[in-house]
Amino acid sequence: MKEQSERLLAEVETKLQAVTDLKSANELKVYYLGKKGPISELTSHMKDLSPEEKKEYGKVLNDLKQTITTSIEEKIKDFEMQELNEKLASEQIDVTLPATKIPTGSPNILEYIIEEIEEVFMSMGYDVVDGPEVEEDHYNFEMLNIPKGHPARDAQDTFYIEDENILLRSQTSPVQIRTMLAAGGNTPVRMICPGKTYRRDADDATHSHQFMQIEGLLVDKNISLSDLKGTFDTIAKKLFGENCETRFRPSYYQFTEPSVETDISCFACKGKGCALCKNTGWITVSGAGMVHPNVLRNCGYDPNVWSGFAFGFGAERLAMLKYGIDDIRTFYQTDLRESANFDRKVEE
Ligand code: DAH
Repeated sequence: MKEQSERLLAEVETKLQAVTDLKSANELKVYYLGKKGPISELTSHMKDLSPEEKKEYGKVLNDLKQTITTSIEEKIKDFEMQELNEKLASEQIDVTLPATKIPTGSPNILEYIIEEIEEVFMSMGYDVVDGPEVEEDHYNFEMLNIPKGHPARDAQDTFYIEDENILLRSQTSPVQIRTMLAAGGNTPVRMICPGKTYRRDADDATHSHQFMQIEGLLVDKNISLSDLKGTFDTIAKKLFGENCETRFRPSYYQFTEPSVETDISCFACKGKGCALCKNTGWITVSGAGMVHPNVLRNCGYDPNVWSGFAFGFGAERLAMLKYGIDDIRTFYQTDLRESANFDRKVEE
């Protein structure tokens, strides 16, 4: 038995040395320790032995089984370790590598400009309010001192719905009216209203039948044009930098008296004159003025006690200037390359 055992051990050792992978090591295990293997076979002879012989035989057999099991298991463990190390090496993650960029959606650039303006005005105590886009002629025109047949209506080629009393608002100014009416004629008002407006314009690089305005209104006692100037100056500096200068030019709107166009100094040429400012050194960014006494009166405010200013920015125009966008249609076409650019432009 001893001889047999030594031969078997030597055989296993030789085979184990020749084994090159985990699979064959496992096969060896199945063969030598399995039911039909040499160990089983040797065990089956036990029954023919005397109790004395059995004792001796059994011990040798047991040792043999132990040794073979240990050798093969060790080999298997070696291979498993090797496999694991190879796997770890090949799957190693270099955490210092730049991550793969996953394309995500981004807000329309108008969102950024509107949010920025909202923040500045909210910090000055203004409320951000909303108004209906399908509006009554009464609020869009009449209450703003623009009666039926007034030539100013032609400038705002309006989309009428059903009859001539219901329309898509051509400006956000009706929200002034609604806000003042809601305030009841006896409390101060500070509000801005960013929102969509509509005009029957043919779309081109600078016109869009739908665009965003940001209306503003402040009504209180002893408000003068210099308050408007200070407010406009603050917002211009926030949007276009501390060196931005502002000026007013006389203008005409039916709902303000006096009315002005508000200009900022050209940030591209610093006022020297360039294509952006059409060589004037100035860029117009909004219409504004002191709320017309008729409008105050229409909304229940006594013009002898109350005064106020109002303004209307074009959001697209501001965004085009600030982010160097040369076509208004960019905001409304779903070109993903453009919207990806928006984020970049805002970050710069
Ligand atoms: N509603 C005017 C427009 O659409 C813009 C405007 C000008 C609004 C002067 C105002 C203002 O509140 O005071 O052309």
